Amino acid sequence: SKTQHFKWEVGYAFRSPDCVEGLVMGINGQFPGPTIRAEAGDTLHVELTNRLHTEGVVIHWHGIRQFGTPWADGTASVSQCAINPGETFVYRFKVDKAGTHFYHGHYGMQRSAGLYGSLIVDVAEGEKEPFDYDGEFSLLLSDWWHQSVHEQEVGLSSMPFRWIGEPQSLLINGRGQYTCSFASSFIVAGSNTTAGRGRQCQFLGHEECAPQILPVLPNRTYRLRLASATSLASLNFAVASHKLVVVEADGNYVQPFAVDDLDIYSGETYSVLLTTDQNPAANYFISAGVRGRQPNTTQALTILNYKPNPPFKPPPLPPPVTPRWDDFDRSKRFSLKIHALAGRSPKPPMKSNRQIVLLNTQNTVNGLLRWSINNISLALPATPYLGSIKFRLKHAFDGAPPPETFLANYDLMRPLANPNSTIGSRVYRLRLNSTVDVVLQNANAMKENVSEIHPWHLHGHDFWVLGYGEGRFVAAEAERHFNLEDPPLKNTAVVYPYGWTAIRFVADNPGAWAFHCHVEAHLHMGMGVVFAEGVDRVRGIPVEAIACGSTAKMRMASNDER
Ligand code: C2O
Ligand code: CU
Repeated sequence: SKTQHFKWEVGYAFRSPDCVEGLVMGINGQFPGPTIRAEAGDTLHVELTNRLHTEGVVIHWHGIRQFGTPWADGTASVSQCAINPGETFVYRFKVDKAGTHFYHGHYGMQRSAGLYGSLIVDVAEGEKEPFDYDGEFSLLLSDWWHQSVHEQEVGLSSMPFRWIGEPQSLLINGRGQYTCSFASSFIVAGSNTTAGRGRQCQFLGHEECAPQILPVLPNRTYRLRLASATSLASLNFAVASHKLVVVEADGNYVQPFAVDDLDIYSGETYSVLLTTDQNPAANYFISAGVRGRQPNTTQALTILNYKPNPPFKPPPLPPPVTPRWDDFDRSKRFSLKIHALAGRSPKPPMKSNRQIVLLNTQNTVNGLLRWSINNISLALPATPYLGSIKFRLKHAFDGAPPPETFLANYDLMRPLANPNSTIGSRVYRLRLNSTVDVVLQNANAMKENVSEIHPWHLHGHDFWVLGYGEGRFVAAEAERHFNLEDPPLKNTAVVYPYGWTAIRFVADNPGAWAFHCHVEAHLHMGMGVVFAEGVDRVRGIPVEAIACGSTAKMRMASNDER
């Protein structure tokens, strides 16, 4: 293994990701940011300089567990202070295992501004993947708004509330088409795409918003690495006429299974194998369309280009039709197909030491629309938890333990009778090396008959997905059906409308870790919690990570004493 050095500057730039010009947050002038390619065991050394004019910044390495370097997790207010304009922070950490990952901004809604990129970790030299392929492509999926993130942030915390709405475009590797479609000849009545805006795109290939074409040879197998950095959209990914064999989920091997399409939620990654066994005289559409919310966004499209056809040769067959957005049973069937690959991933402990049930509700706090977990809406403190817990700074956050569950008589199927909730900053303290079960319980939102999808992401750990269920989680009943045989290891798991999702993990990574809905607007509205374990064991927090808030004052006070 080796150490790879990067010098990155984060800054805004004028770009046209979907053929409409706007501001993107890029790295070294690139959008999406540069792809990092490493080998398991490598150390990454990223010197990140903030070239934004008036905002702080941090970058989270989504999927990397940060063993021994919790301060490099890149979560503002949790693992570090935001990096100020003009300042540089060094992220130095080990990529602990192979897999498809990504990185993204984790301060305010900077992921929505376009701060993201791919992070691909190959197996260490001498190791082998449990499958073969001839070539690969990485497809980083995202959604894009024409409204600035600042406008979005202010809208979400204004009265009256202003929702961000559905994205204008979906992007594949930062490219989408808002003003035209290159499948306009196929606009099918009844397909849930709003594809088309009529005009056929005429691309030469060098345009910023021209799709990145995937050139392939016939009768080969390709690995497609998919990662969803979307802010809001749940996506369905498909390649016309081709089967996809799922082999990896969130950086963990799964029992291979073939599908025609797959659902991917924000924060998830997959690898699928695709065999080019179709008529080689044609090109084929690759699509990603909205699921889980009533769509108002055109499918993202690109082309699987069988060589030697010209890259933009129009495919004779229409793009795949995205399954109906509210066919949740279909999504659940897909979730249930995912099993760990025998022999290639650890099994869960048979018992847990603690069970935390987290009720997800939409609430109001002083009239403002928020999301709450067990009736507390997360407001991140000014001092990062890692420092305030380590140095026992009592007033930096609310030290009371947050609730372990919610009221037994709570009606999950109705809007709350009393939607008033409170803002809070409490922390779930986990005993180091204990086994923790978390049940994410969904409920009705503020409107009648509305319950939304929430993909929850855990920092610092992988977890086993033990089961999904409908309605109220009843431990005695549900636990009998937990999958303890081959549950998939993941770092993001979806919670379906009116349902629950149960996960298990071992709290074996000293640090403070965010656990939250990966929908950017939901996290911004309070949909998250913080876990902390073994923080007293954390040694060597770099000064720059804690040079803000109460930890900064503490350091100044101790200097005065000298
Ligand atoms: Cu990819 Cu806390 O997020
Ligand atoms: Cu959510």
